[in-house]
Amino acid sequence: MTFAYADPPYPGKAGYYPENTEVDHVSLLEKLQNKYPDGWALSTSSAALRDVLELCPPGVRVCAWFKGPRPTRSRRALTSWEPVIVAGGRPYPVNAVCNVADGLIAQGRFHAFPGAMIGMKPPAFAEWIFKILGAVRGDTFHDLFPGSGAVTLAWNRYAGVAPAGRDDTTK
Ligand SMILES: C[S@@+](CC[C@H](N)C(=O)[O-])C[C@H]1O[C@@H](n2cnc3c(N)ncnc32)[C@H](O)[C@@H]1O
Repeated sequence: MTFAYADPPYPGKAGYYPENTEVDHVSLLEKLQNKYPDGWALSTSSAALRDVLELCPPGVRVCAWFKGPRPTRSRRALTSWEPVIVAGGRPYPVNAVCNVADGLIAQGRFHAFPGAMIGMKPPAFAEWIFKILGAVRGDTFHDLFPGSGAVTLAWNRYAGVAPAGRDDTTK
């Protein structure tokens, strides 16, 4: 199977990245649906969830990554989680107890990684995505917004792929 993970700048947050250009989520959702019928996952912010979900096909799941709040001054409750919208995926065998949940509690920041950047995802998060999608060794995984390369690196480890830099399968 072929899966994709999309981790674009969250709507309204393009200014955090050198491109400084909003990603067109209408086109992105079309691409995910047309090119990745086996399954895909899309990270977004809780603030953008309502708008992004409107673009999604019926049947997607909203999973929750609780990364913990970053203490700061705020007039409202601090944001402590990010949604991940998941479509499709390989069904699990039912002859074993399932230990994959639609929520993950994991620390978000991972400064030691070479090339660490805003929005970088930690290995525990990446592995959770692979498991939610039911991805296994031998599958193909496209990291559509690789950034630091942390998710691709996690995939290579998960899937037993020989150490490599960035995945170039999206070119
Ligand atoms: C949230 S980060 C991805 C982080 C990545 N998952 C990681 O673990 O390091 C978003 C990435 O998309 C890139 N980006 C920003 N605007 C973009 C645009 N308009 N088109 C394509 N990529 C863009 C950013 O430079 C950044 O590398």
